Amino acid sequence: MSDISGTPITPVATVTRLADYRVPEFLIEKTHLTFELHEGYTDVSSRLTITRNPQSVKADRLILHGEQLELLSLAIDEQPLDAGDYQITPHNLTIRDVPEQFVLYCTTRIYPEKNTALEGLYCSSGMYCTQCEAEGFRKITYYLDRPDVMSEFETVIVAREGAFSTMLSNGNCLSDTVRDGKRIVHWHDPFKKPSYLFALVAGNLVCLEDSFTTQSGRQVLLQIYTEAKDGDKCHFAMQSLKKAMRWDEQVYGREYDLDRFMIVAVDDFNMGAMENKGLNIFNTSCVLAHPTSTTDAAFQRVERVIAHEYFHNWSGNRITCRDWFQLSLKEGLTVYRDSEFSADMNSRAVKRIEDVSLIRGVQFVEDAGPMAHPVRPDSYMEISNFYTVTIYEKGAEVVRMLANILGPEQYRQATDLYFSRFDGQAVTCDDFVQCMEEVSGRDLCQFRLWYSQAGTPQLHISDSYDADRQQYSLTVRQHTPATPGQTEKKALHIPLKVALYGGNGVLALVTDGQARGTETVLDICEAQQTIVFGQVAEKPVPSLLRGFSAPVRVFYDYQLTQLRQLILLDSDGFCRWDAMQSLMRIVLSKAIDGEDNLAEQAVLIEVLKQLLADHAAMDAALLACMLDLPGEQYLASLYDKANPPAISRARAQLQHQLAVQLQTELLSCYQVLQDSSSGLSAQAMAARSLCNRALAYLLHIDDEYYRDLAQQQFLRADNMTDRFTALKGLVHAEHAGAVAQEALQAFYRQWQHDALVVNMWFQVQATRPWGNVLQEVQQLLNHEAFDACNPNKLRAVIAAFANQNFAGFHDSSGKAYQFLADQIADIDQRNPQMAARLLTPLTHWHQFIDEHATLMRKALESLSQRELSKDVYEVVSKSLNGRGAG
Ligand code: BES
Ligand code: ZN
Repeated sequence: MSDISGTPITPVATVTRLADYRVPEFLIEKTHLTFELHEGYTDVSSRLTITRNPQSVKADRLILHGEQLELLSLAIDEQPLDAGDYQITPHNLTIRDVPEQFVLYCTTRIYPEKNTALEGLYCSSGMYCTQCEAEGFRKITYYLDRPDVMSEFETVIVAREGAFSTMLSNGNCLSDTVRDGKRIVHWHDPFKKPSYLFALVAGNLVCLEDSFTTQSGRQVLLQIYTEAKDGDKCHFAMQSLKKAMRWDEQVYGREYDLDRFMIVAVDDFNMGAMENKGLNIFNTSCVLAHPTSTTDAAFQRVERVIAHEYFHNWSGNRITCRDWFQLSLKEGLTVYRDSEFSADMNSRAVKRIEDVSLIRGVQFVEDAGPMAHPVRPDSYMEISNFYTVTIYEKGAEVVRMLANILGPEQYRQATDLYFSRFDGQAVTCDDFVQCMEEVSGRDLCQFRLWYSQAGTPQLHISDSYDADRQQYSLTVRQHTPATPGQTEKKALHIPLKVALYGGNGVLALVTDGQARGTETVLDICEAQQTIVFGQVAEKPVPSLLRGFSAPVRVFYDYQLTQLRQLILLDSDGFCRWDAMQSLMRIVLSKAIDGEDNLAEQAVLIEVLKQLLADHAAMDAALLACMLDLPGEQYLASLYDKANPPAISRARAQLQHQLAVQLQTELLSCYQVLQDSSSGLSAQAMAARSLCNRALAYLLHIDDEYYRDLAQQQFLRADNMTDRFTALKGLVHAEHAGAVAQEALQAFYRQWQHDALVVNMWFQVQATRPWGNVLQEVQQLLNHEAFDACNPNKLRAVIAAFANQNFAGFHDSSGKAYQFLADQIADIDQRNPQMAARLLTPLTHWHQFIDEHATLMRKALESLSQRELSKDVYEVVSKSLNGRGAG
């Protein structure tokens, strides 16, 4: 936004605050919507049965939300309103002097074909679809578009006869008729819901059908709709859905409630998927899968997202959020649920490692920077910006801590209580904790700080051993660094799970004269606390934060031999990996700081040799994770001021060193596993992941033999995981030259008809860790297959480059920073939500040495000189000022 002189002016940055929450003044008992789909425009007629909310103070005017709507008609109880009876502003429709109870009739015209923001009703590859969370319904019709207004919806969809084979909305289909050349389909959803769960789809789609019999014996029709070309790619999603439905019955006692559950796959989607009641809408990337075109990682993502959206039916839809500050009530809980589901379906340790990597590499970074906010924020400008790793991942960790504090039986009783007490209501995070408190009888007052206090707690742990008394003590100091707007931090209740290892394995624990088994949870509640273990016959090695029992950073000064022992012997897979990460981190930080690290490297190589030589003895998927060096982003977060090129260099060098030193073991591991079973069993996927990790390492060596191996694998693979890893290994190897180029071209030729595979092809190039990638990224933007309006393409090229190409993005020239800013300015014109999300890597400037931080800030400042959406404005201004309203 700028005035006539061209000086940028701040958008009217209205801040919404939790403290200002008021119950709605009016309620909408029934919502009847008619959509007339025409070519070029759509008319939406609503009939809303409105009453005053008895719990609210009396108001005589009704204020509805509405944006970018053309009002065609407006009446109350069939009495048309005069122009003087109402007022329209860019965000609202206000009607004066409304009665106690009335029916509001309203018709608006909207233009879905022109909707590039992909919020509200829009078009994707010729089909109509909606995305209403969080505040998109107001772009469809005037409404009380807030989650605590729950209404019974009826939807009528009208289109020219023959225009669409599929016309869907939430709930049950009441009728489907043709009259006067028009097809009219009538839907009714018997469950009250907020407007953000409304959905409509119209298109020419094919459908995969199946059925599920619930635990109480009801038959549910399951349908997955896609474009005809993708009809053969829905079987895996269907199997995943049935697994998720069974799991939720068995683990949470939750049964599906409608007779029909529909999923629709769309190409253009800002997020992964959306849990609309009875009619989930999915990004094609999160539902389509086929062994020839989908990697194992993508299969697992489909399984997870299907489960996540399905689980929302209870944690989100039946019980929803009172206001958007409570977003983690549904997202944190549902992420915890889907992560336990995935752990049950695949390797539990690996799932935990993936979650922790995300938290450490991304959430801790967010929590330490200008965008830090609590799991339940106090304020926001644009709610779309608050679908963050803090709300999701930290929120899930908070639920996990509650589940661990209560134990499985009490946790289940508490969720049962939550689901029954609040069924059909819009509630708060506090209501959820209250159920945990009531069932367990524990005081969770201090625990609640996890919802209101931002920042990652740091635990500094020291120990001492008293051989005479046979006592071992751990002293734990906790400290949470200041975050924007929160300078004083209180001590949190931190469940710290520990075990002690002696020369012959795990030790029995005794505290306060009581036996605690071999693993115990220490409740850390004070700023400093000492725990004394008795009857300890030798100085033990502590295994700390087992299973990542709390989202905190632990500092304990491990000796190399202690780490070695944990890597080889710890019974907790996550801890083995974590000890390996610590060892690698020690080696890397010495290299980054220019110190000699030969002794540390020797231990690392020795222990890796031992693990690889005996790889058959352990979970291959876990070993594959243990081979990975800590990510650059995570390494950067360990510094006050990180030097990006130094980090990339040290990491690349160690990767090369390890490849050279472990060559024999890696090659034999590769050869042994190469012919393991195919298919999608957990075991087959685990073998592939280890085998491919070995190959990726070997390709760091400049040797034709390994390039041949990769080329053979690329040509002969019978699955996408093997084919794509070979391609990636070649493209990312600095010396593969023509072999890599040929493979890239062949891959594109073979898969150019498949948008999702083309995205992988874009991504592999945008993430290449050497050379002038920025230039190539710019060329990719002009490629025939690139489409700047499609979010998946933006993610495959621009987001992949900025988030997954540390060396390329943090090039010392700062050109990549400015490139990202320029792209964002352009994307913001069409799709503000996507633009704001792509901005995240620039908001991390505070992590880096001044040379880089200054260039990153400069790029942000160049953006602030432009006309910006509210979405991008909020992120730019908060990240530059280091303190926003969040
Ligand atoms: N409700 C969200 C989708 C959403 C987010 C819609 C923000 C509108 C704005 C959905 O349940 C979700 O969380 N999806 C995730 C995937 C999930 C597995 C964490 C997504 O889309 O990335
Ligand atoms: Zn969700």
